[in-house]
Amino acid sequence: MSDVKIVAIAGGSASGKSSIVREIEAYFKDDLIVIGHDNYYKAHDDIDFEQRAKLNYDYPGAFDNDLFYKDLLKLLEGKEIDMPIYDYSKHTRSDETIRVKPTKIILIEGILVLYDERIRSITDTKVFVDADSDVRLQRRILRDTKERARSIESVLTQYINQVKPMHETYVEPSKKYADIIIPRGARNLKGIQILKRHIKHLIEEENEG
Ligand code: ADP
Ligand code: C5P
Ligand code: MG
Repeated sequence: MSDVKIVAIAGGSASGKSSIVREIEAYFKDDLIVIGHDNYYKAHDDIDFEQRAKLNYDYPGAFDNDLFYKDLLKLLEGKEIDMPIYDYSKHTRSDETIRVKPTKIILIEGILVLYDERIRSITDTKVFVDADSDVRLQRRILRDTKERARSIESVLTQYINQVKPMHETYVEPSKKYADIIIPRGARNLKGIQILKRHIKHLIEEENEG
């Protein structure tokens, strides 16, 4: 039996997933690693930048879930993986990969990590980070113009045409699979504390065998 456990953090774009995950990662250090589902976006390196910029990145088919699932199974078996790295500013994978060694807890994070039945079936604890859509849009405009090399116009067009409808069709309905829902995203200090305590408990359970 594997002594590695997967904890999944899903939620809408700019709900605060990555912020929460960074805090948890810093807290647990050597016992936990983070695997961002975004790193498993399909690379689309057979088409040019302008074409890649127009693709829909908010539906399940945008991700290489076969590779994601295969890599998670390897980690559960105690094997290392070479995790791809995604570059949002180029809409493709970077040339480099990161060698990841399994730890007691594998934290997987992304808008659709609760969508795929195969991924759910190997996940121990399922979390959904909730935040109002106007708050998420406001954060996304600020983040994507600063950190993902986007214009305000492109963020708004993408939001109306893809992010919002795909959220309503795929992301929001996946909330029903969650064991824990954290409202108000990264602002919810109590909710994050409860999640940390739960992960600590999972680690201690494994230590006790
Ligand atoms: P996600 O990974 O769910 O898309 P992020 O953690 O990247 O969300 O958060 C989106 C943006 O909002 C980031 O720029 C982040 O710094 C900011 N942010 C996250 N949580 C809060 C918060 N509670 N208050 C203000 N800004 C926040
Ligand atoms: O961090 P966050 O959950 O917001 O990351 C997922 C978002 O990244 C998706 O909503 C998708 O629209 C966006 N994305 C993008 N361009 C890409 C890949 C993903 O805008 N090339
Ligand atoms: Mg994120």
